[in-house]
Amino acid sequence: MPAAPPTNSPIVAAYRQRTPESLRLWQQARNVFPGGIVHDSRHMLPYPIYVARAEGPRKWDVDGNEYIDYYGGHGSLILGHAHPSFKDAVARQAALGSHFAACHELELEWGRLVQRLVPSAERVRFTASGTEANLMAIRLARAFTGRSKLVRFKNHFHGWQDHVAFGSKHQAATDNVPGILKGIIDAVIVADPAKPEAVRAVLESDPDIAAVIMEPTGASSGQIPLARDFAVMLRDATAKHGIVLIFDEVVTGFRVSPGGAQAMWGITPDLTSLAKILAGGMPGGAVVGRKDILDHLDFGETAARGFVKIPHQGTFNANPMAAAAGIAALTRVAEDEICETAAARGASLRRQWNRVFAEEKVPWAAYGVASTTYVFTNPEGLDVDPEAFDPACYPIGAFEKAADHPAVPLLRLALMLRGVDLSGKIGAIASAVHGEDDIAATAEAMRGAIRILKDESAL
Ligand SMILES: Cc1ncc(COP(=O)(O)O)c(C=O)c1O
Repeated sequence: MPAAPPTNSPIVAAYRQRTPESLRLWQQARNVFPGGIVHDSRHMLPYPIYVARAEGPRKWDVDGNEYIDYYGGHGSLILGHAHPSFKDAVARQAALGSHFAACHELELEWGRLVQRLVPSAERVRFTASGTEANLMAIRLARAFTGRSKLVRFKNHFHGWQDHVAFGSKHQAATDNVPGILKGIIDAVIVADPAKPEAVRAVLESDPDIAAVIMEPTGASSGQIPLARDFAVMLRDATAKHGIVLIFDEVVTGFRVSPGGAQAMWGITPDLTSLAKILAGGMPGGAVVGRKDILDHLDFGETAARGFVKIPHQGTFNANPMAAAAGIAALTRVAEDEICETAAARGASLRRQWNRVFAEEKVPWAAYGVASTTYVFTNPEGLDVDPEAFDPACYPIGAFEKAADHPAVPLLRLALMLRGVDLSGKIGAIASAVHGEDDIAATAEAMRGAIRILKDESAL
């Protein structure tokens, strides 16, 4: 949980002054929703903003404040907000019907686009979210191998379902996790990616491991980065021991490259979980991968081979609205260099923020992959040259602590005062519709925010 900003801070006072209508709504919401929110990431002190509308790279709150948005629908909007292709696709489909309770052509077109883009996608099964995609990936791996254990990595996020909702940044504990059966916890090994040799030893010595699941570019969408070598080691060890390798590409899919991290790195996992950009801004997910594994969902194959079929329902799997939006987005990803444009904006943001950090003599650094950027806030005071920063030269542990810098909550608020909305972990997800003028404005907003933090002696 982020630290609370000091209540007597002038930044907090200015935030309150600009957002009275958000405060009014949040006070009402506290009588409706636990904590007044519907997703843990909206937990923000003194209270979150309420957004009224969004277009392109911008959004406006209910008090009329404008923000350049780098939260990007939690990473689902590579074409920005209310893109014409999204509006057309969804409006057209709404007029034709939103749910046929039947097979439809759009699901086929959508699935074929996924097969065309994602190297591991021999077969595709749509779900309603990334959480569900991971749940099914893990169940498939257990059914396929006949083994029970899952290896997951400390701090990696795979959604909120029972098999992965502990050992992450959000729920670090691995014992006494409220509401999760001990039997499930006991079947999950939370491994430390900072110790690759120990990870390999576990994979080589335990014959009951069904699957390894990872965020390929590192925990929290790459905030705690991982090198390609780590994934190569996992691919080798899992292949050697008949363990199913699952890439959780809910964030990296269709973002770090059109074919995700697996295409960028040339490493093909056995199963891949997808969501976010997959459904072009509507709810949706998918588990994709080897035919022989997804065959466990197939009535004919399981009957012919004497397996017990894995049941899978889901009212909104590949519903026509999500399929229409997904096709609109993935067509642009496949044909229009969308990922490349977003990645160029991400690189530009990192370069410009690092120049600001150097000029303002703040020992922080911006880093990231493609269109995703994070700020290394260096709580341990390590030697950092922002303009020559290479995350590979720093230990994973340093990145784990970076989000805990006491200035982080104030920095986020200070940037909002300057018209920029980042994600809570001080990350910026660029889209293909952020322009270079937006990036330059965001760099100046960072300079302004740093100066206010210095004035408040928070830096
Ligand atoms: C890497 C990763 N996996 C899984 C999920 C869960 O996806 P969803 O929120 O669609 O359930 C997320 C969500 O942010 C994610 O970042």
